[in-house]
Amino acid sequence: MCGIIGYVGTENAVQKLVTGLEALEYRGYDSAGVAFFENEQLKTVKCRGRIEALRNLLGCELNNAEIYCGIGHTRWATHGEPSDRNSHPHGTENVSIVHNGIIENYVEIKKFLQEKGYIFESETDTETAAKLIDFFYKDNPVDAIREAQKMLRGSFAICAVFKNENNKLFAFRKDNPIIVAPTDAGNFVVSEISAVIKYTKRFRRLEKGEIAVITNDNITILDPDNEPTEISYETVDWDAEAAEKGGFPHFMLKEIYEEPDVVKRTVSENLSNYIPDLSSSGLSDEMLRKAGRIHIVACGTAMHAGLVGKIAIEKLGRVPVSVVLASEFRYQNPILDENDIVIVISQSGETADTLAALRLAKERGIFTLGIVNVMGSAIAREADGVLYTLAGPEIAVASTKAYVVQLAVLYVLALKIGLVREKLSEKDVQAYTRELLEAVPEGISRILKRKEEIREVAKKYKDNKSIFFIGRGMDYAICCEAALKMKEISYIHCESYAAGELKHGTISLVTDGVPVFAFATDHDIIEKTLSNIKETAARGARILIFCGENNPVPENAAEDIIELPQLSELFMPTVTATAAQLLAYYTSVELELDVDKPRNLAKSVTVE
Ligand code: M6R
Repeated sequence: MCGIIGYVGTENAVQKLVTGLEALEYRGYDSAGVAFFENEQLKTVKCRGRIEALRNLLGCELNNAEIYCGIGHTRWATHGEPSDRNSHPHGTENVSIVHNGIIENYVEIKKFLQEKGYIFESETDTETAAKLIDFFYKDNPVDAIREAQKMLRGSFAICAVFKNENNKLFAFRKDNPIIVAPTDAGNFVVSEISAVIKYTKRFRRLEKGEIAVITNDNITILDPDNEPTEISYETVDWDAEAAEKGGFPHFMLKEIYEEPDVVKRTVSENLSNYIPDLSSSGLSDEMLRKAGRIHIVACGTAMHAGLVGKIAIEKLGRVPVSVVLASEFRYQNPILDENDIVIVISQSGETADTLAALRLAKERGIFTLGIVNVMGSAIAREADGVLYTLAGPEIAVASTKAYVVQLAVLYVLALKIGLVREKLSEKDVQAYTRELLEAVPEGISRILKRKEEIREVAKKYKDNKSIFFIGRGMDYAICCEAALKMKEISYIHCESYAAGELKHGTISLVTDGVPVFAFATDHDIIEKTLSNIKETAARGARILIFCGENNPVPENAAEDIIELPQLSELFMPTVTATAAQLLAYYTSVELELDVDKPRNLAKSVTVE
C-alpha cells in the first residue's frame, strides 16, 4: 500500500529512485513522484499515473550526475483522488516527505495548521504530516520529527528531506514497514528490500520510535531517547532474478510456474523422516493436544487458504476450527479460550487487519502462530510462533504461489495435529507427506503443461459479464479463491457459492448463457454436485467442470471439462488452484488487461 524510497549516494539519485519505484509499483500505482536536491534546492516532479508517466516527465534529471539524494513514492490512493495534486512528495519549501499509511487525525491537524496560517494544496492526509513537521522545524530535523510524531495518530512510514540538510535522508515509522539498506554506492531507505535487491541483500528494519539519519557514507539510527543504536543487519536469501520476470511475460505466470518447487521446498523444510517437524515454530505437541479450538484469521486469498485448512484440520485432527476475516475478527469481541490457538495467515506479513487481529489475540494471552511468507515482516516478528511459506518474493498483485504454499503448510500442520491427537498413525502421516512432497508438485507441473488447453477455455468465456463458481466442501473452499482470482484480474463479476445453496436464492440469476464453473473433485459428494450442476444447466447455464481424472463426470454434463491430475481428495485443491489461476490469468491476458497490476488494488494492504 504505497511504496516509498530514498537514496543518498555517489550515483545519480533520480535514476535510482525511479528504478526502485518500478520495483515497488505493485504496492500502488495511482500516481508517482520524486523530490531531489539539485544545486542545493529541493525540486519535486510528480504526476498522476504510473511510474512510466513519471519517467517521461523527468528529463535530464535522470542522468544528472550532480543529483545525489532524493525521495520517491508510488501511491495507492486513500485520502484524495488519484491526481497530480495529491501525488507525493508533499511538503513546504523547507521539507518534503513521502508517506505510506494513514494519518487518522489529519482533519484535526489540518485545522490546527490552518489556524497558524498554513495553506493546503491537496486533499491528502500526508500533506498535514509534512506541514506539521515544517511547523515544528526550527533548525533541527530530528527535533521537528519528534514533536510531530507526538501529534500524529494512525499508521505511517515516512522518509523526509530538508532543504537545509543537503544530501541527507530522515526516516521513521509507526506500524508501516520501512527499512534502511546499505550499498557500496550509498544508502537506501525503502518499503521493502525486494526493490533494491539488485544492489544489496542487507537491511535493517526501523522500529517504532527510531529515527534514521542517512548520508552517503553513514547510517545512524536514533532510539526514542535520541541515542545512536548499534546496527546489525538482516540478510535476505532471495536473489535479484527471483524478483524479476525471468523471461515470463508477467510476474503472475512466473509465480504460478514456481509452485511445484516452492511447495516441495516448504514441505521438505517442515518434515523429518516424512513426519511433520514444526519444532522451530514454537508450537509444542502439548499445545496441539490441548487446543480446544483453532481460529484462523486472515484476509483475501490467505483467508481462502484458511478455508481449506479448516477442512483438513477438522478431518485429520478432529479439532474445531473457525475461519474469520481479520477485519471482522477484530470487532466481534471473539470468544477465545486459554488453550485455543490463533493462526494468522499472510503472504506479506504486513496486512493491517491481520496484524491487528494478531495483536488482539496476544493481548488476550492466546498463543498466536503466523503462517507468513516475508521473513522479518511485522506478523513474523510479533507472532508467538511462525511457520514460513518459502514461496520467495511474490510480486503480482494476484496471489498465486503464496496461496498454494499456504495450503501445503496447513496440510502439514493438519497432519501434525492428527498425529499428536492420535487420529492418524505415523504410517498414514508418512503416506500423506510423501504425496505432498512428490505427487502434489508433480500434479501441478502436469497442469502447467496444459496451459494452452486452459487458454482456449479462457477465450471462450472471457466476454461474459458474470460467472458463478460452485462446489461443495473442499471444492467450495477452492471456488471462493477461483472466483476471487478471476474477478480480481479480469474484472468479470464472479460469485462463489456452495453448490447446494444456489437454489435458496441465487439460481434466479442463472439464465440462458450464464457460465457456471463447477468444481467437483470430491468423489464422496460428486453426485450431489452433479445434481446442482444439472439444475443450472436446466436454466440455460453454460457449464465448465473441474474434476479429478479418476473421477470423471459424464461427457454430456458440461460444455467444457478440465480433468485434473488425480491426488488424494484432501490435496485436490492444490492442482485445482493452479488450473483456476491459469484460467484467470489467460482470461486477463485475452482481455488485454494489466495482469500484474489490476485496477484499484495494491499488493500489501497496510491500511484498515
Ligand atoms: O499479504 P496478505 O496475504 O496478508 O494479503 C491478504 C490479501 O490482501 C491478499 O491475499 C489479496 O486478497 C490478494 N490480492 C488476492 O490475490
